[in-house]
Amino acid sequence: MSYTHIIVTRQDNYAILQINRPDVLNALNIKLMEELVAALEVLDDDDAVHCIILTGNEKAFAAGADIKEMADASAMEMLKRDQFARWDRIRKIKKPIIAAVSGFALGGGCELAMTCDMVIASETAKFGQPEINIGVMPGAGGTQRLTRAVGKAKAMEMVLTGRLISADEALRWGLINKVVPVEYYLEEAKVWAKEIASKAPVAIRLAKESVLKAFDTTIEGGLEFERKNFYLLFSSEDQKEGMKAFVGKRKPEWKGK
Ligand code: HXC
Repeated sequence: MSYTHIIVTRQDNYAILQINRPDVLNALNIKLMEELVAALEVLDDDDAVHCIILTGNEKAFAAGADIKEMADASAMEMLKRDQFARWDRIRKIKKPIIAAVSGFALGGGCELAMTCDMVIASETAKFGQPEINIGVMPGAGGTQRLTRAVGKAKAMEMVLTGRLISADEALRWGLINKVVPVEYYLEEAKVWAKEIASKAPVAIRLAKESVLKAFDTTIEGGLEFERKNFYLLFSSEDQKEGMKAFVGKRKPEWKGK
């Protein structure tokens, strides 16, 4: 498939999806998001891909939704476009997604990083929800995912002041997983992707699904969900292989079923 605003590359058993509108700091317009979501779904359906890296460039992961595309829209137009509903499809992707962030991850860019499962950032990364500075507020999960990730006080600080935070702050606040020098952020994400891609795919899928369940269920419902997924894995060949390999003191060979 050919895309205008993204570049998809496959490497061994993982894939890299690069946002590519460098002239506008990777601002997320409708076409780009259409491509991004469609590409994620293609990769999700491909058994050869076990993990996905979502990245931008050194200067920007994404500086937010495309302000020029929204500036003159009426509320009714925004409602009809319902462009942010498309983002819900990212939540349905079953393969793990690692965001490799350098430079600006602002507004929709920060929200996009937060829809990923893990975030590796360069020391130069800046995260923020600056929508308040242009007379609006986060619209693609910023008030919800950010609050769950960093708690009410920090989420209020970011959303109400529009202040940007450094990669180190984001790490301390629990928004991201690791900070590395700018030369290595993509390499580090590849190391993580390779490690995750080397595990049993069905176990990875159900484990991701179970962790995400924690965000929209009671503890009782979540524990039940987790337990059922755990039991379900005992119907997979990989569970038999993994446990036999442990007992036989050898490396497991996964079949993905
Ligand atoms: C459209 C954008 C853009 C954006 C940058 N550009 N961000 N275009 N939408 N979100 C464009 C600029 O217009 C400019 O184009 C070029 O990218 C370079 O940007 P500069 O401002 O010249 O760069 P710099 O001085 O380095 O400042 C970087 C910046 C600033 C601090 C990131 O660009 C900025 O504040 N951007 C907006 C950030 C923001 O408010 N994001 C939230 C958007 S609302 P030209 O043609 O002039 O060279 C949002 C809602 C989310 O995300 C809802 C759900 C998705």
